[in-house]
Amino acid sequence: MERTLSMIKPDGVRNGHIGEIIARFEKAGLKIAAMRLQHLTKEEAGKFYEVHSERPFYQDLVDFISSGPIVAMALEGENAIAKNRELMGATNPAEAAEGTIRKDFAKSIDENTVHGSDAVATAKTEISFFFTDKDFV
Ligand code: CMP
Repeated sequence: MERTLSMIKPDGVRNGHIGEIIARFEKAGLKIAAMRLQHLTKEEAGKFYEVHSERPFYQDLVDFISSGPIVAMALEGENAIAKNRELMGATNPAEAAEGTIRKDFAKSIDENTVHGSDAVATAKTEISFFFTDKDFV
């Protein structure tokens, strides 16, 4: 059993895809262990993506992630990290496989609809950014 952090980004929320995205997670056997709709401040978005702070796209990323509400979820299941990444597809939707979330809903690499943790350690850090033990049901 593993946990991973999933975030539906502002484009996914704005375009009305919350339900369809969550349905894909549930159909794949991932359980929602904690969930919250939240509008991140620029400061919070900057902290969440701190690992990318030296990258040229950092400021645009922070501006976009703080441009509207996101849905943060802790997903739980067997191989949850890899399963979520498979459902999301490649970071750049132009390279994402058919039937993935990013292929079906994302417009560009900047507005790519979902974020998912890439490893066990990152998942732990990202989950604790949004949730504490009492948020888990
Ligand atoms: P995400 O998985 O949320 O992690 C960091 C985000 O930065 C990524 O999705 C993209 O939306 C965004 N980004 C923009 N440009 C790039 C790039 N060249 N490489 C990786 N991520 C990028």
